[in-house]
Amino acid sequence: MKFIIIFVLIFHTLSMNLAHGKKVNIDHKKTIVKSGCDLFEGKWVYDESFPLYETSQCPFIEKEFDCQNNGRPDQFYLKYRWQPTGCNLPRFNGEDFLRRYRGKSVLFVGDSLSLNQWQSLTCMLHIAVPQAHYNLVRVGGLSIFTFSSYNVKVMFSRNAFLVDIVGENIGRVLKLDSIEAANTWKGIDVLIFDSWHWWLHTGRKQPWDFIQEGNNRFRDMDRLVAYEKGLKTWANWVDDNINITKTKVFFQGVSPDHVNSEQWGTPTESTKFCEGQAKPLLGTKYPGGPHPAELVLERVLSSMKKPINLLDITTLSQLRKDGHPSVYGHGGHRDMDCSHWCLAGVPDTWNQLLYATLIQN
Ligand SMILES: *[C@@H]1O[C@H](CO)[C@@H](O)[C@H](O)[C@H]1NC(C)=O
Repeated sequence: MKFIIIFVLIFHTLSMNLAHGKKVNIDHKKTIVKSGCDLFEGKWVYDESFPLYETSQCPFIEKEFDCQNNGRPDQFYLKYRWQPTGCNLPRFNGEDFLRRYRGKSVLFVGDSLSLNQWQSLTCMLHIAVPQAHYNLVRVGGLSIFTFSSYNVKVMFSRNAFLVDIVGENIGRVLKLDSIEAANTWKGIDVLIFDSWHWWLHTGRKQPWDFIQEGNNRFRDMDRLVAYEKGLKTWANWVDDNINITKTKVFFQGVSPDHVNSEQWGTPTESTKFCEGQAKPLLGTKYPGGPHPAELVLERVLSSMKKPINLLDITTLSQLRKDGHPSVYGHGGHRDMDCSHWCLAGVPDTWNQLLYATLIQN
């Protein structure tokens, strides 16, 4: 009996070594291309030690993200940790973050998904150093969160398209090749951009009347094409204006909605939306396939001269059909929110990934 067990162990170790040898070769190749483990490839695992915080510890949290307080009855969605396939994600250390960025500034620029991530980061940092004095001011579309004892600023600038919308005689013009707001992005130490959702809006939610490129004006345009043109204007600005020795630039990958249950393989469910979804998808791939906007974003980023960090959160967030507020965001069934994310929740993982990337560099 003993002999058999030992034999099995030896055989097991041998085959592990063989498998390991093979893996090293693959990893070696990967290292050249991607410098290390791909943090964005992996799966969600249940972990009792999550969430990273309770929203009651975060006094400045916006009501729309505070799902538990808004009456969300289930709690499983709070208990998932992102597990990359090739390595472990370092646990977020807010004090370390503040020490590293002493005297520096972090700026999120984008839409309400950017707000979602900014809010998550400010909560995670405050909870790490609850005694440290903080100050939050809002000036127009700019929110400035300051940890004065570390002299760290974590800011959010609302800017849904990154390129400009200009009021003219004929109406509001979305200018695909104009990016005036960018002047305020100079001199920041960490920039994290996002843009996508507003490119889709039509009707009353569409905040422009014409699209302009060069001297040509259009009533409308294929939205993915317009998105790519706008992103290229942003990319050219970054290539021409950012000193990457001083400034780290991130782009938050496209944050997915869950408004069509056929995409995750349950067309028979009574609701097509995210409502009632209490568990993530546990595989590594989203049945609905890659997000078309993410493919556009990747194409633009790979054409840039400067190395930009893609915070490649699309797939891992696609797996989190359970992470949205549904009716526990703004409140009431008339407002079904399957775009934003509950806090605590998925954006905390985006910030763990941001932190992991920052400490790697
Ligand atoms: C880029 O930033 C670094 C660090 O702040 C500085 O030493 C360098 O002179 C800057 N380069 C340019 C071209 O401004």
